[in-house]
Amino acid sequence: MVISMLSCSSAKYSESFTPGELWKDNNGVHINAHSGGMLFVNGKYYWFGEHKTEGEEGNLANAGVHCYSSEDLYNWVDEGIALAVDPENSNSIIEKGCILERPKVIFNTKTKKYVMWFHLEPKGQGYKGALSGVAISDNITGPYKFIHARRANAGHWPLNVTEWHKTGTIPSKGQSYGGGSLPAHPDSLNILARDMMDGQMARDMTLFVDDDGKAYHIYSSEENSTLHIALLSDDYTNHSGIYTRNFVGRFMEAPAMFKRDGKYYLMMSGCTGWSPNQARSAVADSILGEWKELGDPCIGDTTKTTFHSQSTYILPVQGKRNQYIYMGDRWHPQNAIDGRYVWLPVDFQGEHFFIRWRDRWNLKDL
Ligand code: GAL
Repeated sequence: MVISMLSCSSAKYSESFTPGELWKDNNGVHINAHSGGMLFVNGKYYWFGEHKTEGEEGNLANAGVHCYSSEDLYNWVDEGIALAVDPENSNSIIEKGCILERPKVIFNTKTKKYVMWFHLEPKGQGYKGALSGVAISDNITGPYKFIHARRANAGHWPLNVTEWHKTGTIPSKGQSYGGGSLPAHPDSLNILARDMMDGQMARDMTLFVDDDGKAYHIYSSEENSTLHIALLSDDYTNHSGIYTRNFVGRFMEAPAMFKRDGKYYLMMSGCTGWSPNQARSAVADSILGEWKELGDPCIGDTTKTTFHSQSTYILPVQGKRNQYIYMGDRWHPQNAIDGRYVWLPVDFQGEHFFIRWRDRWNLKDL
C-alpha cells in the first residue's frame, strides 16, 4: 500500500535509490542480499544474495541465500531464504559456517527449473576449495535443492590453451597463492595445467544467459589471476568443457556481465578482499572473447574505489531499452550484516560505459 513518497532508506514506500544508505524491506529490516543478482519473471524482479549475520563471523554462510521481490526496484518484499545451509555437524558440504558467495539464479526454459550457482568453500578450509555449487528449484523463491559442488571443467583444456600449458612444468598442488601474490605474469606458473585433471578453481563469479538461450559461468580462476568464461550444459547445471581464459594475470574479481546492441560488456574489480578498489571494464564482440579492456568506468570517483563499492551485477531495466543499473556492494566486513548497496545508472558513449555517483536517483532520471 502506498503510504508516503519517502526514500528507500527510511520508509515503507520508496520512489528512489539512495546508494550506501540502509535499504529497508517490507518489514522495515535492512535488505540482506549481498553480492547478489537479479532475475525478472512475470512482472517482478527477484533479488538473490548472501544472507549475512552480525560481526566478522557474519561473512560466513550462517543462513544461506536470501530472496526478495519487487515490482518497481525500490520496494522489496522479503521472500525468505531460497537456499538454506544445512545444520552444523551435518557433514554436508553446504553446512552452516561454510563460505557461500555471489549466488546467481537463471531460468532454464527447457527444463523449467530455476538454477542457482554460487562460489562455495567447505567449512573451515579458507578459500582453497574454489568450488562451484549448483542448486535447483521449480519455484523462483525456492526452496532450492543443492545438487553438487565441483571444480570447473575438469579434464578440459580451454579453447585458447597454449602449447606451453600442455607441456610446461607443473607447480606443486600443495602450494596455494593469496590473491595478487603470483608473479606479474602468472603464466610463468602453470596453474592451468596443475588443475587440468581435478578441475579449475572458481571463486568470484556471475552467470549470463545469452539471447540464444546459452548460459555462461564467468569466474575468477587460476588463483584469481585469470578470468574464465565457460559455456554451461543445456540444462545449466554443469560445465560443458568449453571455456576460454581472459585477462591473463589481471586478477579480475566481482565480474558483472551485460549485453547491449550485440556487444558484451564486463565490469570487474581488482583483487583486494573486502576493501574496495578501482573498477575495470571491458567489451567484446563474442562472449568467449577476445575481450578488450576499457579502463575504469567510474567518473568522478576521486578515491578510485568504485565509489566505495565492488561490482556484483548489471541489471537491464525492464521496459527501458538499453538502460542498465550498476549493482555493487559496500562491504562492512567487521559487521557483515551492515553491508550496503550501491546502485547507480549506467551511461554509454561509443563503446564505453560510465557510472557517476548520485546521492539519490530514480528511474525517471534515466
Ligand atoms: C572479495 C570477493 C568477495 C569475497 C571477499 C573475501 O575480493 O569479491 O566475494 O570473497 O573477497 O575476502
